[in-house]
Amino acid sequence: MLATASLDELRAAVREARAAGKRIGCVPTMGALHAGHLSLMRSALNETDYVVVTIFVNPTQFGPNEDFDRYPRQLDKDLELCRGLGVHCVFHPDVQTMYPPDDATIVEVQGLSTILEGEHRPGHFRGVTTVVTKLFHAVQPDVAFFGQKDFQQQLILRRMVRDLLMPIRIRTCPTVRDPDGLALSSRNAYLTADERRTALNISRALFRAREAIESGELSVAEAEKRLVQVLSSVPGLKLDYAVIRNAETLDPAENTGDQLVGLVAARVGTTRLIDNVLISPPGTA
Ligand code: PAF
Repeated sequence: MLATASLDELRAAVREARAAGKRIGCVPTMGALHAGHLSLMRSALNETDYVVVTIFVNPTQFGPNEDFDRYPRQLDKDLELCRGLGVHCVFHPDVQTMYPPDDATIVEVQGLSTILEGEHRPGHFRGVTTVVTKLFHAVQPDVAFFGQKDFQQQLILRRMVRDLLMPIRIRTCPTVRDPDGLALSSRNAYLTADERRTALNISRALFRAREAIESGELSVAEAEKRLVQVLSSVPGLKLDYAVIRNAETLDPAENTGDQLVGLVAARVGTTRLIDNVLISPPGTA
């Protein structure tokens, strides 16, 4: 496995793989790899011929009061995990490579970037779309793999590659959960045992909302109301939002035929967590 911080080395390796007729897969990450990332890598290894994992804790997607400084960093362990899986290349650039001095270019998907997560984390998605554009230019993948856990992120990136005519397919892979339902996240490492128990309410409430809608027990509006009520009453959990939206546009859910998504963001202690479930109401094609 090639592990490099050098753009030139990365490009030479990808060029060689492409010249040999290989399809390039890319798994962008911020490191602190967990089973969710490993499942993205396995999908990439199954579906493409040469897999590049990128590891870069991107400063521009963190707000001034967010956890950039304490975000877990464990490059040696991450490289071992990638090597163990059979990843071909890990690109782990430094900040100067990704943001040259006087860097002045940003990429922003308007509209979608300013609702929900974007409303609570202003500028976050601009940081994501800017860095992912740079990573895409560096790696030039045929397919890029993202987790459903960051539901709004993958929608925005789909829109970005479409709007900017990037010849890259976005593959969204299912959220990986602990057996008790907690969605895997590098930020789970911040949770105490008590906080982890509190956090479990998020996935439980989402699963209940999905079941209530899919069985016809509650309308979308009723299920959303109950989701908010349940999560607002959990001691130690501070709800940012709990909504049920159209899964393609994130607009408020209207037709019963729409594929829906329930999305929650909440703080438990000092840790901000997000989760979501796809919901197919009765009558969905
Ligand atoms: O999902 C993430 O880990 C990050 O937002 C990404 C896509 C690697 C961009 O920094």
